[in-house]
Amino acid sequence: MSRVALVTGGSRGIGAAISKELAASGYTVAATYAGNDEAAAAFTSETGIKTYKWNVADYDESKAGIGKVEADLGPVEVIVANAGITRDAPFHKMTPEQWHQVIDTNLTGVFNTVHPIWPGMRERKFGRIVVISSINGQKGQFAQVNYAATKAGDLGIVKSLAQEGARAGITANAICPGYIGTDMVMAVPEKVRESIIAQIPAGRLGEPEEIARAVKFLVADDASFINGSTISANGAQFFV
Ligand code: CAA
Repeated sequence: MSRVALVTGGSRGIGAAISKELAASGYTVAATYAGNDEAAAAFTSETGIKTYKWNVADYDESKAGIGKVEADLGPVEVIVANAGITRDAPFHKMTPEQWHQVIDTNLTGVFNTVHPIWPGMRERKFGRIVVISSINGQKGQFAQVNYAATKAGDLGIVKSLAQEGARAGITANAICPGYIGTDMVMAVPEKVRESIIAQIPAGRLGEPEEIARAVKFLVADDASFINGSTISANGAQFFV
């Protein structure tokens, strides 16, 4: 039977490409989304991939949603914690609300997604966790104190989970995408975006599929010794 993969924020942007790549590779995929019913319905009718609506920032909602996915499809053996938002502002203008929204969704959202599934992975002695971090968690970014904090936090999460899960056959790894051609990057003012592209040696934005292929590699059964690592996929914009 095919493994069940849960992709948060899996109906749009990088998440949609990940959902499709995993489905094409034989996984049974559940894609979550937070609010855009229309995009989710269009995604399901285009791909046949089931979508589930919940707010990853809410623990009880996440737990209940995961329970529904598992009742429908079976135990989740692969998690791709991808859901994320930006609330960019220079620090002197950043509000506590902007701080908390991003922390709750991007960072606590990873806890809320992995924690309910973790005991089952430990029991079954198998699990694959990939957290979608960001180049901006590695290098920081003007106007992203909140976002960069969460994306750097992702790296601490996977390094710790990797140590806890290693003996139970669970791996946890992070991918740090650079600037990818999604709605999130397209929301950056055009002039700023142009200056960002000028800093990418590849001379272009990345494609969501270029991230999805890295996820597929990390979640494979035979990627069992790759644990706690970070893959950068940024067109040579930044090296750790
Ligand atoms: N570095 C240094 N200075 C910068 C800067 C940068 N990257 N970007 C803007 N500034 C400067 C401006 O030149 C301006 O300076 P002056 O006041 O001297 O003119 C000042 O900062 C901006 O001040 P504003 O009051 O105009 O700023 P604002 O409140 O209007 O905010 C902004 C504008 C939110 C910063 C907007 O420029 C922006 O969205 N920037 C992009 C931030 C960014 O890169 N976000 C990444 C989004 S994509 C993503 O997050 C995905 C991923 O993982 C890679």
